[in-house]
Amino acid sequence: MSDTIENQPKQSMGIDPYEKNWMRLSALLLVVFAATITIGGFAMGFEVPGEDQEVDPRTVLDSPPWSEPGVREVSDGVFEAYVVAQTWAFVPREITLPLGAEVTINVTSPDLMHGMMVHETNLNMQIVPGQVSTLEYTFDKLGEFPYICHEYCGRGHEAMFGVINVVSAQEYEALTAGEETAAADSGDESADGGNGEEAGE
Ligand code: CUA
Repeated sequence: MSDTIENQPKQSMGIDPYEKNWMRLSALLLVVFAATITIGGFAMGFEVPGEDQEVDPRTVLDSPPWSEPGVREVSDGVFEAYVVAQTWAFVPREITLPLGAEVTINVTSPDLMHGMMVHETNLNMQIVPGQVSTLEYTFDKLGEFPYICHEYCGRGHEAMFGVINVVSAQEYEALTAGEETAAADSGDESADGGNGEEAGE
């Protein structure tokens, strides 16, 4: 009788070692998550848009720069893009940049939550109505960089896409020279009594 009791495995009064390991792992995970947020927020500067990036989604498209989305050169090789993500299209649908362009991409939505992900880059944003999402990127590779909405936004979600064309400096100059001529032409037309509608829409 006493033999049988001695042969049984010893009952520890503490926590089972197996359970203890899982507790250690859980605690470690919490530390890792907290460290990720701390490093991301304080060392790498990731943050949710502040008050200065808040807009009124009902009126945001009525005044510049959002009333005229597109890309403009702010200084030599430095660009600013304003992109409207709305049901169910990006405006503009095509952005052309010269090789090496440093661009700040600002995106907002006047309606639903959307997303914007640019292929072959680390540009990936969630677009929330009432806020402006902003990321910077330098395009140092020639080619087409398609962008898509990756936040399900309803019936036309799959139609929400566009493309960033990165062309050589020469090609870019030729293209923008053409645009300026076209703009000047349409300006002349409206001066001659045109109905004021934007060409190409
Ligand atoms: Cu917009 Cu999906």
